[in-house]
Amino acid sequence: MIRDITEKRGQTDRPKKGYIWVGVSILLLAMMFYFYYVYPSRGFGPKQPIYFSHRVHAGVKEISCRFCHPYVDRSRNAGIPAVEKCLYCHRYIVSQHPQILRVKWHYETKTPIPWIRIAYVADHVQFNHQRHITRGVDCTVCHGNVKKMDRLMPIEFKMGFCIECHKREKAPVDCWLACHN
Ligand code: HEC
Ligand code: HEC
Ligand code: HEC
Ligand code: HEC
Repeated sequence: MIRDITEKRGQTDRPKKGYIWVGVSILLLAMMFYFYYVYPSRGFGPKQPIYFSHRVHAGVKEISCRFCHPYVDRSRNAGIPAVEKCLYCHRYIVSQHPQILRVKWHYETKTPIPWIRIAYVADHVQFNHQRHITRGVDCTVCHGNVKKMDRLMPIEFKMGFCIECHKREKAPVDCWLACHN
């Protein structure tokens, strides 16, 4: 009798252990899925109309920021490169890449690529690249390490960020900065 009961117990215990292992496997799979697919794209910028990677261009290929954003040290705006500039290289480099074919379509139909802007200050704030670049402020201070990013992250500059450095560097912190908040 006693033997009989223990045997039965053993049998009913086994499937329970099975459930635990199934549970653990599902959990592990879910974690793998999260870290491989979800996590890497978290905190990254919006999907752009053409897959353009700063990591590839400015990072791996070490193309100068100024080649594509040439006005950065002489004007208010850095400038976004026109389609022609992409083709300056891509007429020859990976010219049949599906994304480059799309770039060519924009060129041929004279439609500018509708890039989504990711860096902005509030309307009433004045900002001028030239003043900062000529004082030797590096791009990364404000834009982060762009060379490591495939898709740029959106940044909304807060007053505190600007003012903090202005105070530290003894740059003007007059009305236009102090009045608005
Ligand atoms: C100074 C040259 C140069 C310019 C200008 C340039 N690229 Fe590239 N691009 C490259 C090189 C080099 C590669 C790497 C090709 C390879 O993988 O062999 C590349 C790769 C790419 C790729 C392939 C996918 C990838 O990330 O590897 C895309 C898409 C691309 N560029 C889009 C653009 C767009 C859009 C522009 C214009 C805003 C542009 N490129 C301007 C040199 C340039
Ligand atoms: C081969 C051309 C190319 C090079 C080199 C390049 N950029 Fe860009 N950059 C672009 C294009 C195209 C966009 C618009 C698409 C996007 O936001 O990814 C852009 C967008 C940006 C923006 C976002 C502007 C906005 O509000 O949308 C910043 C900031 C920027 N670049 C900084 C840099 C810095 C810093 C470097 C050097 C480390 C650099 N770029 C090198 C082509 C380039
Ligand atoms: C002191 C902070 C600061 C530094 C340094 C800085 N930027 Fe910017 N950048 C900004 C702000 C703020 C904006 C948004 C401007 C706006 O909304 O008018 C911006 C916008 C941009 C844009 C968007 C398009 C445009 O024409 O303005 C590009 C491209 C850009 N920056 C590239 C660069 C590059 C390349 C460097 C380095 C050579 C650089 N920035 C250095 C603060 C900075
Ligand atoms: C890392 C330091 C730093 C940061 C961050 C910074 N600035 Fe500046 N800014 C300076 C310095 C230094 C000057 C003085 C340049 C000069 O003397 O020509 C300056 C000058 C200016 C001027 C010109 C002032 C005048 O009276 O003509 C404006 C406007 C300005 N900054 C706006 C901004 C805004 C807006 C931000 C935030 C998006 C910002 N700055 C972030 C360092 C910084």
